[in-house]
Amino acid sequence: MDKMQGETVRLDRASNRLLIVDQTRFPNEKVVLELQTLDEMVVAIQTLQVRGAPAIGVAAALGLSVLAGESRETDAEKFKAEFLKNADAIKRARPTAVNLAWAVGQMRDVLQENPDVPVPVLKELLYQKAQALHDADVAVCRAIGENGAPLLKTCKRVLTHCNAGRLATVKYGTALAPVYIAKEQGHSLSVYADETRPLLQGARLTAYELCEAGIETTVLCDNMASYVMGNGLVDAVLVGCDRVAANGDTANKIGTSGVAILAKYYHIPFYVCAPFSTIDLNTETGKDIPIEMRNGEEIRSLWYQKPMVPAAAKTLNPAFDITPHELVTAFITEKGVLQPEDFKTV
Ligand code: MRU
Repeated sequence: MDKMQGETVRLDRASNRLLIVDQTRFPNEKVVLELQTLDEMVVAIQTLQVRGAPAIGVAAALGLSVLAGESRETDAEKFKAEFLKNADAIKRARPTAVNLAWAVGQMRDVLQENPDVPVPVLKELLYQKAQALHDADVAVCRAIGENGAPLLKTCKRVLTHCNAGRLATVKYGTALAPVYIAKEQGHSLSVYADETRPLLQGARLTAYELCEAGIETTVLCDNMASYVMGNGLVDAVLVGCDRVAANGDTANKIGTSGVAILAKYYHIPFYVCAPFSTIDLNTETGKDIPIEMRNGEEIRSLWYQKPMVPAAAKTLNPAFDITPHELVTAFITEKGVLQPEDFKTV
C-alpha cells in the first residue's frame, strides 16, 4: 500500500514518524522519508526535502506532535519548555513562508489554552491539533480549486511559476488546484511550467505531478515566458505564495514578480492562489517580508558536473521576490476571490 496515501506529508501514528515525500529526488525517484528527530525535521525544511508554504506549515505541526510524542518528560512544565524549544528551532528553519510560523503558533496555542493538564493529555491534544491542521489543508486547497476553476472557464492554457501544486501542500495544491478541479469538471487545461531556476521546482516538481495527473505540460526556461505570452499562448497566470502582506504585496518564488510584470504588459490575468494562513495581516507591505538568501552553490554547481560560474564571480541567490499588489488581478482563496481590501472583512 502507498505509505503516503496520496499525500505529500503525513503522520504515521503507529510508528510516530513524520512521513514526507522527498522533493529533492523528483522527477527520477519517489522516496519517502521517515523523520523522528528535531535535527531531521529542521534539515528537511532547510534543504527543501519538504517545501512549499502550506506543506512546511503542516510538516512543522505534525513534526512537533511527533517530537512531543517522543518526549520522556513527565513534568508538565519541563515538557512545555522542551516543546517551546523545539517549536522555536522549527520556526526558524525558513524565514519567508508565514505558514511555518503560523502553524507553529497554532501548536503553541494548544499549550496556552490547556495550562493545567498532565503530559499524556497534552501529547494527545497536540496530536489532534496537528492532524486538524493537516486535514484543514486538504479542505482549504480543494476550496481554492473550486473558487478558481470558474475563472478559467474560457481559458485553454495557463502559465505557472515554481511548484504550488499538490507536492507543495498535503494534497491539491494552491495554484494548481483550479487546474485539477477544472479537469474533474471536464475542462482540461494545458500548463506552461516555468522551470524555476535555481532549484527547478517547475521542471522537476510541477511537470512531474501534472504529467502524473494526465495534464498536458510544457516546461519553459524562465526567460521564455515573454515569448509564449507575446505569441498569445497564455490565457492566465496562476501562482502560489509564501506570504501576502496586508496591502496585497506578495512574496513568492524568485522570478514571480517578473512574470507578473510580463502578464500586465500582455494584458493577461495574474492570479495569486493563497490559503488564508498565507495572508499575514501583521505584515503591512512587501518591504516588511524577510527574503531568504540561499547558498550560491545552487546557482554555481548544483545541476552541473563541473561548476558553470567562474570561481572569481560572486553569486546572489534570493529565494523569493515581492510582486507589488497592483500587478495581482485577484487572490483566489478558500473564502472566495478577493482583493486586498477584503482580507480583513471576509
Ligand atoms: O522554496 P520553495 O520551493 O519552498 O518555494 C515555494 C514557492 O515559492 C511556492 O510557490 C509557495 O510556497 C506556494 S506553495 C503552495
